[in-house]
Amino acid sequence: MNMSDIIGKKRNGETLSQEEIDYVVAGYTEGSIPDYQMSAWLMAVYFQKMNREETFHLTRAMKHSGDVIDLSGIDGVKVDKHSTGGVGDKTTLIVAPLAAACGVPIAKMSGRGLGFTGGTVDKMEAIPGFQTAVEADRFIEQVNTIGLSVIGQTAHIAPADKKIYALRDVTATVDNMSLISSSIMSKKLASGSDAIVLDVKCGDGAFMENLEDASILGQMMVDIGNGDKKKTIAVITDMNQPLGQAVGNSLEVIEAIETLKGCGPADIQELSLILAGIMIYAGGKASNREEGYEMAKAALDSGAALEKLRQFVEAQGGNAAVIEDYSLFPQHTCQRELRSSQDGFVGKIAAKAIGLASQHAGAGRATKEDTIDLSAGIYLHKKVGDSVCSGDILAVIYGSDEEKVEKSAQEAEKAFVITPEKPKPELLIKKII
Ligand code: URA
Repeated sequence: MNMSDIIGKKRNGETLSQEEIDYVVAGYTEGSIPDYQMSAWLMAVYFQKMNREETFHLTRAMKHSGDVIDLSGIDGVKVDKHSTGGVGDKTTLIVAPLAAACGVPIAKMSGRGLGFTGGTVDKMEAIPGFQTAVEADRFIEQVNTIGLSVIGQTAHIAPADKKIYALRDVTATVDNMSLISSSIMSKKLASGSDAIVLDVKCGDGAFMENLEDASILGQMMVDIGNGDKKKTIAVITDMNQPLGQAVGNSLEVIEAIETLKGCGPADIQELSLILAGIMIYAGGKASNREEGYEMAKAALDSGAALEKLRQFVEAQGGNAAVIEDYSLFPQHTCQRELRSSQDGFVGKIAAKAIGLASQHAGAGRATKEDTIDLSAGIYLHKKVGDSVCSGDILAVIYGSDEEKVEKSAQEAEKAFVITPEKPKPELLIKKII
């Protein structure tokens, strides 16, 4: 087989065989195919697209490029959850304890973030002492003991995807349905859970800006998961404004704790209960999604999910006193208030602009090498549809660097649109596949 022929075949819009896709993935991962050929192949895929079979083959090849985790030492149906990424999305920290409190074993691997804020692993590290690098034996033992563990994804999970994704990032080839779905699903399938719940974000702060594209992506990932005999359900959810009020690592963990105390923002609480309900159903603990939702609500109301979070934090070496005392989180040293200059209603809060402003305050990384300021971020005092008077606080920007916080505030200001009329509310849940 020859890489140049395979590039030409894809460039001409032909279908690649499983052997050809295996050859590309294996060759690039081991280094016999150079970046320039892989870049040309990715661009050919970008323009000519891949069909369903090719996408399945690509996912399979990337899944098997590294370890496939064996979770058979954990009793019960293990359920994983993945979000395609949004601004202020801290739902893993809420749904994992909710589902675990209802008897669903959660043995989850999460990543670090590149972009708006950290990933779930970065957020958890805002809790003093919390360990995300946990040995496989301890990971399994913890799930068998308390029903829940979330750890950092190792470099041995789908290494082909890691290498290919880094190349896509710098060759303008991220934005392709087959490449996105195979990238996400190769890691999920290698992580070993029996069922997968996908939160596919849709809107201005997401990869997929409209419902049609989000539905195609969701359906493709569901087909890949079910094709690998994992029960897979996708929920298309709104990302036209940040989720909840907190954007930034410590701020988001505090909001997750508040939600588990029953005091979280309405959108975060509702989305978390819906996702947890679906996880409880996928894990076989409820006969349908509605029953799962009621079980999750009961675990929230009784405090069982908050207690599960406490056990989880302690089991991974974290200081669980943060649950009562938020001053134990990394503290900001400067802040800047953003105030409305007019009366009216919040008509729009551009999610992407808030995400970037939060990143620039120090909450996210622009490159892998950047360090995150765990105290940095943005707290929204108003959400879309709220009424505002001139002088009201719209948001507060936090951080540890005056200059960054000032720049972030200028960017965040542009994200708010004040309108004379109250806008029509967006549906939080757009579709379940
Ligand atoms: N997240 C991933 O893991 N891969 C993609 O291609 C896009 C988002």
